Amino acid sequence: MNEDLKSIFQSLIDNNIQDQSIDEVLNHITKIFPTETCFSTSFSMEDQVITDFVKNSDVKIFTLDTGRLFEDTYNTWNLTRSKYKVNIKAYYPNQEELEPFIQENGPDSFYRSVENRKACCNIRKVQPLKRALARNKIWITGLRAEHSPDRENLQQLEWDESNQIIKFHPLLFWSTQEVKNYIKEKQIPYNILHDKGFVSIGCAPCTRAIQPGEDFRAGRWWWEDASKKECGLHVHK
Ligand code: ADX
Ligand code: SF4
Repeated sequence: MNEDLKSIFQSLIDNNIQDQSIDEVLNHITKIFPTETCFSTSFSMEDQVITDFVKNSDVKIFTLDTGRLFEDTYNTWNLTRSKYKVNIKAYYPNQEELEPFIQENGPDSFYRSVENRKACCNIRKVQPLKRALARNKIWITGLRAEHSPDRENLQQLEWDESNQIIKFHPLLFWSTQEVKNYIKEKQIPYNILHDKGFVSIGCAPCTRAIQPGEDFRAGRWWWEDASKKECGLHVHK
């Protein structure tokens, strides 16, 4: 389908672009795609570091406002706007899909079944993501290998078959400590939930703090079987 883009991806891999520094990769990809490189932020620690890297570049920053985010996440969004003066585009769920879904199932149907949960994630995150990615060629994310076994097998540059886009995960191999050190050193605003035991932060009703030693994603959709815990934003083969 998108053979030209796929062959550009292959040439990036053949030239070992992913072995370069984050700044060098960003320079390289924004030269090829000056208006078609985007970065999705959930205002997590990782995403805040990436915002610091892309703040003066052509990269377009967007967030998916599900309508169910934590107040502390909105605070981080405000602080980020003030510090960096960057333009952050927000994408919202389609009301024509959301309104009947809520009318039929109530506001918190995600606790009742995996099917309901996936339907909610689809309306509030996945469909808005598809709109955000349309017409872009490179999608930058804050995925880190430490977050889940699935993510350990990713490459920093990968071809996303389901979205037909090149993905770049600059912090894939950073440790939590490296992320925290960078935030501290550069005085980057971050979500204070990270100081309260929250590691991976999504929507408020579906995220809780974890205990020391627990899996990083144990606080996401904690009532579900571990094998089902992806919302469909990132589809790993
Ligand atoms: S998820 O698949 O479980 O929801 P996770 O919270 O680990 O994702 O975040 C991984 C990356 O997905 C983030 O670094 C960010 O790039 C993107 N992401 C997740 N949630 C959002 C959101 N609400 N808005 C924009 N990007 C998001
Ligand atoms: Fe809905 Fe929870 Fe998914 Fe957010 S994480 S979109 S509230 S099911």
